Amino acid sequence: MRLLPLVVTVVLTVALAYYIYIPLPDGIQEPWKLMFLDAAFRATMHLASLKHWLGIDHYVTSIRGSTAAFEGTMKGLMSSESSGAVIPGVKVSDIDFAGIPVRVYEPPAGGEGHLRRGLMFFHGGGWALGSGKKGSYDETNRMVSDELNTVVVSVEYRLYPEVHFPVPYLDCLAAAKHFLSPEVLAKYAIDPERVAVSGDSAGGNLAAAVAQEISIDDSASVKFSVQVLIYPVLQALDFNTPSYIENQHIPILHRPIMVQFWLQYLGADLSLQPQMLVNNHSASQHSTITPELRSRLDWTTLLSQKYKKNHKPLVVEKGSHELLKEIPGLLDVRSSPLLAGPEVLAKCPRAYVVTCEYDVLRDEGLMYVRRLQDAGVTVTNDHYEDGFHGCFSFTMWPMEFDVGKRMLRGYINWLQNNL
Ligand SMILES: *[C@@H]1O[C@H](CO)[C@@H](O)[C@H](O)[C@H]1NC(C)=O
Repeated sequence: MRLLPLVVTVVLTVALAYYIYIPLPDGIQEPWKLMFLDAAFRATMHLASLKHWLGIDHYVTSIRGSTAAFEGTMKGLMSSESSGAVIPGVKVSDIDFAGIPVRVYEPPAGGEGHLRRGLMFFHGGGWALGSGKKGSYDETNRMVSDELNTVVVSVEYRLYPEVHFPVPYLDCLAAAKHFLSPEVLAKYAIDPERVAVSGDSAGGNLAAAVAQEISIDDSASVKFSVQVLIYPVLQALDFNTPSYIENQHIPILHRPIMVQFWLQYLGADLSLQPQMLVNNHSASQHSTITPELRSRLDWTTLLSQKYKKNHKPLVVEKGSHELLKEIPGLLDVRSSPLLAGPEVLAKCPRAYVVTCEYDVLRDEGLMYVRRLQDAGVTVTNDHYEDGFHGCFSFTMWPMEFDVGKRMLRGYINWLQNNL
């Protein structure tokens, strides 16, 4: 009888270890920390799917709830452990810009006539999760405001499932136009020559798309001077790039999840995921995808050999003809900035693009770097050989990764020298 508790303990321990353990490449530092983080995310997803299936809650709202509870716990831990969280000089206000909620961080006023930098920030989270007011985003934006004497505006654009494309993009664009108006810049004492747009992941997608639109908008008297794209999402036609294949099981952005985020964003049926995973939506028989359009995301010509390795492109011949008609957003440059033509890219601001070796989005980031450079835009590409998708959000105790902290430092340094 005394054997039973032992057996149960052993079985549970093995089951837990099996749930947590995932093989990770040697290049990833602090692998156990990443495994626990990933297991926590998977558990959250599994619980959310269960609740959704039982009809208790939409899975996205449920994930938001769990994340909020987690953050609350972390905040509790932080306040008792470290007091460096609040930066005294920065004034924070929650207001709205053209009807879009934003959080504005203002550094202490300089002398009379002293102009500051400006930065608009779009947070990541697959167009469904996250908030600029939460977690490390809030801390990072305060830090940038304080260290770089910058007025930072973090945009709370609307998310799935409440809305889908193009609403999040339009929210960001409206907030950006308001920010760049001469009156608003004057009100905050911002130098119109030093305004950045920045974002990570889905936020990087919005930053790139908004930067393009403002760049070609002749009615905009002030434009962004630089764009910062941290492991941005840039295209949805090829889910079989070398990085999508190599990193499909790497936390925390697994390949099927990214496809799901896309389907949600574009308002498409989630049951289309298996078709998208095999590129059936971008089959070669689709006449709407011209060779010219295809060349804009052709990694066989846009990537260097280091990333191409021995991978073969997956272009299916037939695929599914209805998909592009059903999901028109797939071919829209406002959702997929990598599809923009060279004449648009040529007008885009100087760029800082961060890519991670262990990220399904690595190759689209690298292709965008290449295409911006080919169009004559100055680009700095910081590629983190030990980086994984999402590490920019893990820069603070207790959820910190060394690579995340280096990335944050690199971000601030680049802005210091280029904005
Ligand atoms: C992709 O398209 C082909 C050709 O139409 C079809 O036979 C195949 O079943 C599709 N794959 C998936 C996963 O739906």
